Amino acid sequence: MPSINWFPGHMQKARREVAEKIKQVDIVLEVVDARLPESSRNPMLLEMLQQKPRISILNKADLADPKRTQLWLDAYRGDDRSAIAIDAQHARQLKQIPQLAEKILADKLARKRAKGIRNPHVRAMCIGIPNVGKSTILNRLVKKNIAVTGNRPGVTKNQQWLKADGNLELLDTPGILWPKFDDQIIGKRLALTGAIADSVFTDDDVALWGVDYFKANYPGELQRLYKLSDAQMQLNAADTMKLLTDKFGYGGEYDRAAKRFITDVRKGELGRYTLELPEDDQQ
Ligand code: G4P
Repeated sequence: MPSINWFPGHMQKARREVAEKIKQVDIVLEVVDARLPESSRNPMLLEMLQQKPRISILNKADLADPKRTQLWLDAYRGDDRSAIAIDAQHARQLKQIPQLAEKILADKLARKRAKGIRNPHVRAMCIGIPNVGKSTILNRLVKKNIAVTGNRPGVTKNQQWLKADGNLELLDTPGILWPKFDDQIIGKRLALTGAIADSVFTDDDVALWGVDYFKANYPGELQRLYKLSDAQMQLNAADTMKLLTDKFGYGGEYDRAAKRFITDVRKGELGRYTLELPEDDQQ
């Protein structure tokens, strides 16, 4: 995926564009990564919504820890928020989106029908940070392969509405917001999954954080993949990385070992995982 270089001017522009587009829709499809649902969203969206309904789509659920995905769905739904978890690579799973949108907008649609509009459309758009799967969802919903302009705001063409199932219509370009870079832990969650450019943190920092996280949360996977003994599982993250460097035969090249660990996590070699829980302190 193309990486992005955000700076305040750019952010302002992105924010203005998204706010402008939100005005045109009945409902917002907020796309986040199921492996880090809070860290992969931009909190500013909430104020930009201005009471407009939204569906939180926890995408890439195929890569996430299913038990934790359920905890997130329960937490969101407990907050009276519509949330679903999907794997956008499977069109079948997206069928619930138009149905849910119509359900949420039932009153508004009934009013339109009462005014004589026979098939009132539901206008929606996908919004999210780069790489969460907005374009994949959009393309699947409209059953076309539309060229999306990449992760850059400011490329506003003539906007079009694309037909999806039911009466759903989607704006042809997703709204792109930026992730929260400022918090170190959030940044490392984003970096480990590849949601932000690899240049933001060093591989070493990300891998050390990741090793600690997997040790505390998914020790069995770590032990299995790298054939670590029970005693080796007691090592701290830095010593574990040194050990892995030896095991990989990388002769003291720690950075190379860090990169390999990160790649293994991203490829799912360490199984399905979720890097945060609803009860974690969210900054
Ligand atoms: P964006 O518009 O939000 O920036 O994201 P985009 O749809 O481009 O998706 C980013 C990457 O995530 C793509 O992979 C895409 O295939 C993948 N992806 C999207 N949804 C899912 C999902 O539900 N599960 C999984 N496992 N992957 C998903 P890529 O490697 O960048 O491109 P490509 O391999 O598809 O060519």
